[in-house]
Amino acid sequence: MKHINLRWHINDPVTVVHTYASADGSNWMKELTDEWKSSFLIVDSEVGRLFHHQLQSLFSTSSGLYLMDASEELKNTFTLDQIWGSMAGAGVRRDTPLIVIGGGLTCDIGAMAASTYLRGLRLMLVPTTLLSMVDACLGGKTGVNLAGVKNQVGTFHPAEMIVISPEYLDTLPEREFRNGMAEALKTALIGDPGIKTIIQEVSKAEYSSDQILEMIERCLKVKGEIVSEDLLENGSRMLLNLGHTVGHVLESASEFRLSHGESVGLGMIAEAAVAVRLGGNSNLPDEIKHFLELSGLPTEIEGIPSSEVLARLLQHDKKTRRSGRIWALPFGWGDCRLTHMTADQEEDILPQVLSILRA
Ligand SMILES: NC(=O)c1ccc[n+]([C@@H]2O[C@H](COP(=O)([O-])OP(=O)(O)OC[C@H]3O[C@@H](n4cnc5c(N)ncnc54)[C@H](O)[C@@H]3O)[C@@H](O)[C@H]2O)c1
Repeated sequence: MKHINLRWHINDPVTVVHTYASADGSNWMKELTDEWKSSFLIVDSEVGRLFHHQLQSLFSTSSGLYLMDASEELKNTFTLDQIWGSMAGAGVRRDTPLIVIGGGLTCDIGAMAASTYLRGLRLMLVPTTLLSMVDACLGGKTGVNLAGVKNQVGTFHPAEMIVISPEYLDTLPEREFRNGMAEALKTALIGDPGIKTIIQEVSKAEYSSDQILEMIERCLKVKGEIVSEDLLENGSRMLLNLGHTVGHVLESASEFRLSHGESVGLGMIAEAAVAVRLGGNSNLPDEIKHFLELSGLPTEIEGIPSSEVLARLLQHDKKTRRSGRIWALPFGWGDCRLTHMTADQEEDILPQVLSILRA
C-alpha cells in the first residue's frame, strides 16, 4: 500500500490517496478505522452486486446504504433528494462520514450529497472504474446534470481519503476500460509524456496490475499538482479539459452513442489539429491517433456535426466567456496551453479541422 498526500488551498483540507496492489484485494476494508466503518454508504448497484461478498462486512457495520444505478438520466437532483432522504432516515449526523464506492458518476453525486447534507460531511471515495481511478476521484468536483446539460449543478468538496484498489477493474466492461485509457492519454499530453509507454504496455493483451497501478498513480500525480494550484478552476485547472471542448460536442451530437472516452479521444485529435493551425507540433494529431488505436478507441466518425450544430453545442462549454472561449490546446507532448479564441476564429478554423475526423 502506498500513500500520496495532497494539501488543498481552500480550508487547507488534505486528501490522502491509498493505492493497493490488486493482490491486496479487500485489504482496504480491513484497515478502516471504526469511525469509517460506521459510515453512510453510497454504492454503485452493479459494484454492490459484483462485489457483494467482499462488501458484505462493510454493509453490515455501516449506518446506512444507498444503492445507486449509474445512469446519466439518474444523475440529477431527484436522485440527490432521495439520497438526502435516505441519509435522514438513517440518522446521519455531522460526524457521520460518507463512503462512496463506484465509478465517476456515483462518486460525483455521492460527493455532492456529502458536500451538501448538513453543510458537509467527511468523505471517502473508492473509485471502481479506470476513468474514476485516473481522473474523476481527485479534485473535489461534485455534480449532477440539469435539463440535459451534464454537471450543470455542483460544488467543490475534496475527499479526505481516496482508496484505489485495481481489483475492481477485473469486472469492468472493455468499453468502460477504454474510456479510462482516453483520460490517461489526456494526462500524458498535459503533463507526463512517459505515461505513453505504459499505455503501450497496457494495450497488449497481457499487462500487469503493477503497470496499471503505475499509470493510475502517475495520472493522479499530474492532476493532483494542477488541482492543488487551482482547485476552483480559475486558471490552470482548465488544462484538464483538453479534448473535452470538441469531445462534449461530439458526445452530444451523437446523442451519447459515442461514449465519453471515445468523444474525448476524438476531441484530442481535433484540438491538436487546431493547435497545428496556431503553430503546434504537426505530427501530434497522428501520434494521438496512434495511441488511441492502440487502446482500441476510434479515431474517425461517420457524421461530422455541421457548423450550426457545432456553434450551438459549444455554447454549453464551461470555458465560454463573453469575449469568446478558452481552449486547452495540445501544442506538443507535455505542452498544453490555454488559448483564447473568438467566435470568428472558431468559425474559421473548426469546420476545416473537424474534417480530420471524417471516416
Ligand atoms: N468529478 C470529476 O472530476 C469527473 C471527471 C471525469 C468524469 N466525471 C464524471 O464521471 C462520470 C463517468 O464515470 P465513469 O466513466 O467512471 O462511469 P460510470 O460511473 O458511469 O460507470 C460506468 C458503468 O460501469 C459500471 N461499473 C462501475 N464500476 C464497475 C466495476 N468495477 N465492474 C463492473 N462495472 C462497473 C457502472 O455500473 C456503469 O454501468 C460522468 O458522469 C462524468 O461527468 C467526473
